[in-house]
Amino acid sequence: MSEDVRSSLKAGAAPLLALAEIADGGFAEAEAVLGGDAESLILYREGDAVRAWLNVCPHAGRRLDWAPGQFLKSKDGLLVCAAHGASFELLRGDCVAGPCRGESLRAVSVRVSDGQVFLEQG
Ligand code: FES
Repeated sequence: MSEDVRSSLKAGAAPLLALAEIADGGFAEAEAVLGGDAESLILYREGDAVRAWLNVCPHAGRRLDWAPGQFLKSKDGLLVCAAHGASFELLRGDCVAGPCRGESLRAVSVRVSDGQVFLEQG
């Protein structure tokens, strides 16, 4: 995650959502205030871990979900942008196929505590 995203996080005390609201291997969408702006986040759960990125595709800046919180996952485990089909691996958020290949989603640091997902403090 880049320093500017990390330093701009305004971490509140309220959780983004409960871990149980995300299926294992699935996605959820949450709203958060980052740097004073309301942003949509993609949350991806893998067991007890959650990774998050801004819900902004590096191709044309569109949301990746086809409806709020409804993200596409390919058979080979890639997150697929609903707008034009860019595919992202889910460790780093790198685009591995499609119109923005070589670019990446912007990571947002989150942590899981007491079964809740929080923005990571600075
Ligand atoms: S905006 Fe995501 S592939 Fe075009």
